[in-house]
Amino acid sequence: MASANLKLSSKPCTHRFIPHLKRITHRTPTLIIHATTAKVPTIQLLDVAKQAADAGAAIVSANLDKPRNISYKGATDLVTDTDQASEDAILNVIRQSFPNHAILGEEGGISGDVTSDYLWCVDPLDGTTNFAHGYPSFSVCVAALRHSTPVAAVVIEFAGGPGAWVTKTYAAKRNGGATLNGKPISVTRTSDITKSLLITGFGYEHDECWSANLELFKHYTDISQGVRRLGSAAIDMCHVATGMAEAYWEFRLKPWDMAAGVLIVEEAGGTVTTMDGRAFSVFDRSVVVSNGAVHQELLKTMEPKVEKLLKQGIDLSPWFVPKGMMVHSGRQLE
Ligand code: IPD
Ligand code: CA
Ligand code: CA
Repeated sequence: MASANLKLSSKPCTHRFIPHLKRITHRTPTLIIHATTAKVPTIQLLDVAKQAADAGAAIVSANLDKPRNISYKGATDLVTDTDQASEDAILNVIRQSFPNHAILGEEGGISGDVTSDYLWCVDPLDGTTNFAHGYPSFSVCVAALRHSTPVAAVVIEFAGGPGAWVTKTYAAKRNGGATLNGKPISVTRTSDITKSLLITGFGYEHDECWSANLELFKHYTDISQGVRRLGSAAIDMCHVATGMAEAYWEFRLKPWDMAAGVLIVEEAGGTVTTMDGRAFSVFDRSVVVSNGAVHQELLKTMEPKVEKLLKQGIDLSPWFVPKGMMVHSGRQLE
């Protein structure tokens, strides 16, 4: 977008889904500079997100029964040629509709116009390790963000396993609810941790955050009905959105891991914050999503863990912010 079109705006943060959580602090409103990209109806963004996710899922489906071609990003962080092929297919669809929007893909990084009001976050295969082993679950995730806030999202889950693969499509549009295969979904109302099923995840880097989460895993395994660890952050969040579990949290996820799932949870009636109870941005390095009813209780244990990590000098500041992109603070949709 031409820099001549830059405009200044200053609006307070809003956070419609967590008014009951007194501990959650809002970030200080900031001056926001953004290019005046033509506004796209959210329904159109969702339609393109669906087409794009379907294109990625078609690639994944075609490769389910084929030998995997694996390479390594780190000792245990693997990637297959299906990750790249899926991302190529997804990006083709988005670019055909919105050639000037910015896109942040896990495999290809940032492309398009970073001064656009829109950023697409794409995880072409979330749960690559599971895919490599043929173990459900893994997924394809596409989210459209306006002013850094997810407004349309699709997650296609691969479930069932070898010989019985099925796909499930989760979708959400801001203020329009969340669906699974077209039917509305909602979070549970369980407010008691001892009656809750929880989910977490552990990244590839076995650092201080990973150790802190092992302690949380132990704590909540002790006091809840169990803590699951499936291996696809997007699916974990969708499972909270469908009411199969009460909450999910993880440290050090990337924007493409979280952007679609957090909107699906919010639109299913859930709550999303960082693990120290701040208003969430996809660039944050911790996330907790819940049915809302157990959120406060979870934060009581999580906040001190985050405080300790910060005191140790662990960097939990925003990351993977595309260079040149303005990050918006809190909810800033207009
Ligand atoms: C991973 C999955 C996993 C989470 C890791 C992510 P990837 O994504 O979401 O559940 O624990 O932190 O990196 O690498 O399979 O796309
Ligand atoms: Ca991922
Ligand atoms: Ca991935």
